[in-house]
Formats: sequence, structure tokens, C-alpha cells
Amino acid sequence: MPTIASGFKLSNGVRIPCIGLGTWQVPDDQELVAHIHDAIEIGYRHIDTAHIYGNERCVGEAVRTCGLPREKIFVTSKLWNTDRGYKETLAAFDLTLKTLGLEYLDLYLIHWPAAKGEPMTWQSINSGTWRAMEEIYKSGRVRAIGVSNFLIHHLVPLLARANIAPMVNQLEFHPGYMQLPTVQFCQQRGIQVSAWSPLGRGALIRHPVLCELGKKYGVSSAQISLRWCLQHGAVALPKSLNPQRRRQNADLFSFSLSKEDMERLDNLPQTGFSGLDPDHVTF
Ligand code: A2P
Repeated sequence: MPTIASGFKLSNGVRIPCIGLGTWQVPDDQELVAHIHDAIEIGYRHIDTAHIYGNERCVGEAVRTCGLPREKIFVTSKLWNTDRGYKETLAAFDLTLKTLGLEYLDLYLIHWPAAKGEPMTWQSINSGTWRAMEEIYKSGRVRAIGVSNFLIHHLVPLLARANIAPMVNQLEFHPGYMQLPTVQFCQQRGIQVSAWSPLGRGALIRHPVLCELGKKYGVSSAQISLRWCLQHGAVALPKSLNPQRRRQNADLFSFSLSKEDMERLDNLPQTGFSGLDPDHVTF
């Protein structure tokens, strides 16, 4: 089991810290800078943003001013849907780096597969996008590249045309929404799974099974959910604007879930699903 700073090793040898601070829906202001500084202070070494979150400016400022050398912090951002395609991806990446004010990114992801409204062309759009991602990777301005919300039928054509396989697939993954076939497909191919909304956007906090297990292990239901992600070999990206909860979400290394309790969580009926199906996202 990794520690918060050591994390998992990607297929290209780069290490990804196993807990990242999610920043979705967090406004681009000085409060975000303070939240990130506090998170870094308590041991977080991985910040997850995206162009569409609109907060790359303050994420970059926080990383630049946190007092640690740049190479100690792992920064992820994502290519938005309207920027897909070869030329557009190259331009979007330049803008992301400029907005962050960083010389390089640790991980750049295609945010969603190009499927909605593009039934005939999404494979070739993804292929052009991926060619640009590979080019950016070869230029040394990003340490790893990957995808987000790609299901098996999106990954197969991408892998068939890729020269460099994606190193990460970031997708919704939590007890009650495991997406097991996609997770297994990725793990069998050395694609690191990373979990967005690992607390089911808060829904798992009140779930009776997670509360019961929290009591059993002397931790919170949130810690049970996050530990479940780690024991499945997934990076977890919890988001919290509360310093105590942020601390709790990083405190996952003094207990371990038994095989039986892992299986119990694996078998929860659907809970906390965001409703976002990659084939039908309307944005
Ligand atoms: P808050 O920011 O007030 O802590 P997810 O990461 O699955 O999207 O879930 C995020 C939601 O879960 C946020 O509403 C956040 O609220 C809440 N949350 C994050 N960590 C905890 C925790 N340890 N205990 C309870 N709620 C949490």
C-alpha cells in the first residue's frame, strides 16, 4: 500500500500520489489558493483541476507559492470537449500551461470521450486528439497523458491507433458505482485508474453500511470509501473545502479493510451515481 506522497507507479515509471485534492466547482479565488496551501501543509501532493473548472489560474498560483519545489507537487488538468481535435488540443494545452503559470504539467487527460452528437466521427476525433497528446508528451511538457470517462468501447479504438497507450483513466469510481468491467480492462493493460467523486459526491457519507464499517474500524464513512478505492489500486480524488475533513481524507494508512468488508462494499447496490454516462453527456 502506498503512502499519500509515494502513490502508484504509472506505466512510464512516473509516480502518481494516490490521494489528490479535487477542485471541481471550487471558484478561482484566493480561498482556493489557501485551501491548496493547507492541503499541501498536511501532506497532499496531488492537485486535480481541468480547463472547464475555470480555476487553473489559482491552482497554478497555489502550486507556485506553496513553498515546495515544483517537482514535489503532481498537477493534473484536462482538455475540454470543445477543444478536441489535433490542432485544437495543441492550442488548449498551451493555454492551460499559460493559465496555470507552470512550465510543465504532470498529467493531461482528455476529459470525456467524443461521443455525444458525434456518432460518426468520434473515433477519428479522439484519434486526432490523442496524436496531439502524444506530441505534447514527447515534447516533455507533460510527464504523463491519459483519458477520463473512457469506457471499454472508447478505449479499444483509441488503443488500436495509439503509439503511446494512455497511462491513466480517471472515472467515477466508488462503492455503489464500481464500473468493474472498465476498471478491470484498464488494470489488465497497465492503465492506472483514478477515482473522481470517490465519496459519491457526499452520498456515501450517510450510507448505513459505510457508517457501520466506520464504527468497526474507528474511522469515518468517508475514510472507508477512500480506503476501498486505494485497496482496489485506484487513485482517489476527494474534494473538501473543510480543513478537518481534508485531513481526515488523507488519513488512510493506519487501517486496512478485510477481504470480506471489501467484498461487501463491492456488492453495494447502485449508490451515489452522478448520472453522467460518458455516451450521453450533454455538454
Ligand atoms: P465539504 O467540502 O463541505 O467537506 P466527492 O469528492 O465524492 O465529489 O464528494 C465531495 C463532497 O463530500 C463535498 O460536498 C464535501 O463537502 C463532502 N466531503 C468531503 N470529505 C468529507 C468527509 N470526510 N466527511 C464528510 N463529507 C465530506
